[in-house]
Amino acid sequence: MTRNIMPKILCLTLLALAPVLSAQAETEQQVASPDGELVLIFDLQDGAPHYSVALAGQPVLLPSALGYVLRSAGDGSNPAETESLTNDFEIVEILRDTHDETWRPPWGEAASMRSHYNELAVSLRTRSAPERRMDIVFRVFDDGLGFRYRLPEQPELDAVQIQAEATEFRFAGDHLAWWIPANPDSYEHTYRTTRLAEVSAVATPITMKADDGLYLSIHEANLTDYPEMNLVHSGSDALKCDLVPWPDGVKVKSTTPMQSPWRTLQVARRAGALVESHLVLNLNEPSVLADTSWIQPMKYMGIWWSLHLGKETWAGGENHGATTENARRYIDFCAAHGIGGLLIEGWNEGWETWLKGAQFSFLKPYADFDLEEVARYAKEKGVALIGHHETGGNIAGYEKEREQAFAMYQRLGVHAIKTGYAGTLVPSNQHRHGQWMVRHYREVVKRAAAHQIAIDAHEPIKPTGIRRTYPNMMTREGVRGMEYNAWSDGNPPEHTTILPFTRMLAGPLDYTPGIFDLTFNKYKPNHRVYSTLANQLALFVVLFSPLQMAADLPENYERHPAFEFIKAVPTTWDETRVPHAEIGDYVVVVRRQGEEWFLGAVTDEEARELEVPLDFLAAGQTYTAHIYADGDKAHWERNPTAFALKERMVRREETLTVSLAAGGGQAIWFEKEHEIPVSNGR
Ligand code: NOJ
Ligand code: CA
Repeated sequence: MTRNIMPKILCLTLLALAPVLSAQAETEQQVASPDGELVLIFDLQDGAPHYSVALAGQPVLLPSALGYVLRSAGDGSNPAETESLTNDFEIVEILRDTHDETWRPPWGEAASMRSHYNELAVSLRTRSAPERRMDIVFRVFDDGLGFRYRLPEQPELDAVQIQAEATEFRFAGDHLAWWIPANPDSYEHTYRTTRLAEVSAVATPITMKADDGLYLSIHEANLTDYPEMNLVHSGSDALKCDLVPWPDGVKVKSTTPMQSPWRTLQVARRAGALVESHLVLNLNEPSVLADTSWIQPMKYMGIWWSLHLGKETWAGGENHGATTENARRYIDFCAAHGIGGLLIEGWNEGWETWLKGAQFSFLKPYADFDLEEVARYAKEKGVALIGHHETGGNIAGYEKEREQAFAMYQRLGVHAIKTGYAGTLVPSNQHRHGQWMVRHYREVVKRAAAHQIAIDAHEPIKPTGIRRTYPNMMTREGVRGMEYNAWSDGNPPEHTTILPFTRMLAGPLDYTPGIFDLTFNKYKPNHRVYSTLANQLALFVVLFSPLQMAADLPENYERHPAFEFIKAVPTTWDETRVPHAEIGDYVVVVRRQGEEWFLGAVTDEEARELEVPLDFLAAGQTYTAHIYADGDKAHWERNPTAFALKERMVRREETLTVSLAAGGGQAIWFEKEHEIPVSNGR
């Protein structure tokens, strides 16, 4: 590091982290972000690897443990026999590197992304026999950092069974945290807002705010052939890694050389900067797909909400949703309104067995659904079909037909499939988030790519940025989505003000927004959506998904003026900014595609007025702001559909007052005014 700023930062860091730096100076290695602000110190404390982190001299993470516990090299039958790779180390080699690259994803929340970091790679060796080698690689960016373990190929360690990963995060205070409980099979929970001290076992991303206003978020990047990392308490203000196990309790089964996913820490002085960061993507490998022309971001509708409302059924019978005729009706609607795609659920035999020992066919349509004809008709109308593979958790059943099923969809010109794993997993002793299923999910993405098919995964493994490497891994659920409003106690108004700063830091979200009939009394009088209509529109901007569903029934969109916003809003972006936010209270997101900007603002159960400077708009330009706002008396509970459409001319010098009702929102399309060309004759 040869930056002028370094001595000062180093000085501050040394002061702040004084306890870390006492004895073993020769074992300390530090690496700073390119701007010099974020500093990571690696240290062997008596042979035990630790790391600590400071921002501008202020501690962010206190010395935190690193390493592994292996199940002993014996036959593995006695789980009590373990071997610790957490101490007794010496440094063999230190390598440093700097990387600065700007890359362009085929689709995303920004047209280009800069990956700029300094790397420190520490190679360790145990001092006593048997000799074990372990490397830890740290990458420090301006907006956070990542580190991963590598167990290199080595003479006395071939097969590896990891019993525990010792990674710790010892925070510098009892921060306020937004989190969902760890669950090895699901992320479908509402968020808790508590101090760190009250956090039990949590899934990542977990996001925190320190009392001095600093925002932190822990997650992982490039989760490949490894179980997911949850976090459990590790003493006061500290969390440690807890990996999802195999049936025998082992966490990772591998052979050397092997490497872990990146453990990531985002650091930001504004909540919005967490969302603007590309840290997780930057810790993934570049795309392996040469041709991505078949990967099409789009809005889509579905024979879907009708099923959750109970208007129609997945299974065949009198009210079957996926009939040829109904599909035609939806295709006509999509074609008439420029909606790119249509998802059809319940098209295939086996739905009678769903949640009762699922036996689905992935090849045979129900008798009243002429798949070939529907595919032909969709093509004729210029609407992309989105295929559906619900496994019900029966993995073997899916894997048996998967290849043929992908080939069939490919032959029919289908380039995207929604997958599902709703139901008891078979084998039941595996977990959806364990290594075995992580392998399955990845294999689905790879095999789909081979058939030019993109994936929208429900009940997925959490996103960790592999969309950079496999851009056909477009979007996924992994959230308590809209469907919960149709059949549970629903998602509270604050839910969507937390998602951008937690689940969505991991990647795109198939939340399925856009419900206009918010109470659907005709079908489910005891259920409802906990928001206003304008809030539903704002979600198209707030919740990024390259495949973005307009989830309501066609009859609720037909002739509704608010549908014009859904028609206008893109699903992928050249630029994204989050100028205004308080996690759990409100969030304003602005995104640009080409020369047009879109704004989405949502609030929790409190009504608010937000002053939003329009300084993101281009200088010297006039825009027509199409403002889709809550109506005067709008309220998520009492008056959810009250809605007002306004229009005004705006320029970047102005500040807009954005009024949000309780549970409300606002969506704005800033349409650039085109200069009227002055013709020669005038
Ligand atoms: C759960 C998915 O999240 C939902 O969208 C889908 O309709 C059902 N499974 C059936 O596949
Ligand atoms: Ca689900």
